[in-house]
Amino acid sequence: MTLDNDIETILWNEDQIANRVSELANQISGDFKDTATSSPPIVVGVITGAFLFLTDLVRKIKLPVIVDFIRAESYGAGTESNGAPKISCDLKVDVMGKHVILVEDIVDTGNTLCRLIAHLKLKGASSVSVCAFLDKPTRREVNFELVGEGKYYCGFQCPDYFVVGYGMDFAETYRNLPYVGVLKPEMYK
Ligand code: IMP
Repeated sequence: MTLDNDIETILWNEDQIANRVSELANQISGDFKDTATSSPPIVVGVITGAFLFLTDLVRKIKLPVIVDFIRAESYGAGTESNGAPKISCDLKVDVMGKHVILVEDIVDTGNTLCRLIAHLKLKGASSVSVCAFLDKPTRREVNFELVGEGKYYCGFQCPDYFVVGYGMDFAETYRNLPYVGVLKPEMYK
């Protein structure tokens, strides 16, 4: 019995993910090359879902960066967000006057990003960019606004499926799958 047996469809395999992550890292390296030496961007991983994406991404960014993590919780054990996310684990580094790149696994309703961007703005970040591995635009409830010269980077647009793997879970399982897939319907019960 392996985790793979629970998967109905693979949406993005390891090679596709690695190629896209390299492209995103190149884009970020280009966009931050003029400021990174004097003020390295702070790459903030939103845990737990972004942990694999963040580690792959930063290893491909050819500039000095600072890495930190933040946790925002809005999901229970199911597949529906319960609205207003809470920041349950805050940053260690001071973002005042710094460029921040928020790294998310997936943007769904947009509630988590809105909450995190507002938080970073309040802490005085001079710009907030977002690098989301996946985006489900059809599910959006709130639109987020970047801060300052912040940019939006997105790996892939995701169809309206609940996906698992590459950091993303269902009931805290499947995060360690190296690809992104959809579970067999019976697994969501
Ligand atoms: P939002 O606040 O509704 O945008 O939700 C964002 C968070 O919900 C993501 O960071 C994920 O942790 C989680 N999430 C949303 N869609 C999925 C999914 O399809 N699979 C796994 N987690 C998801």
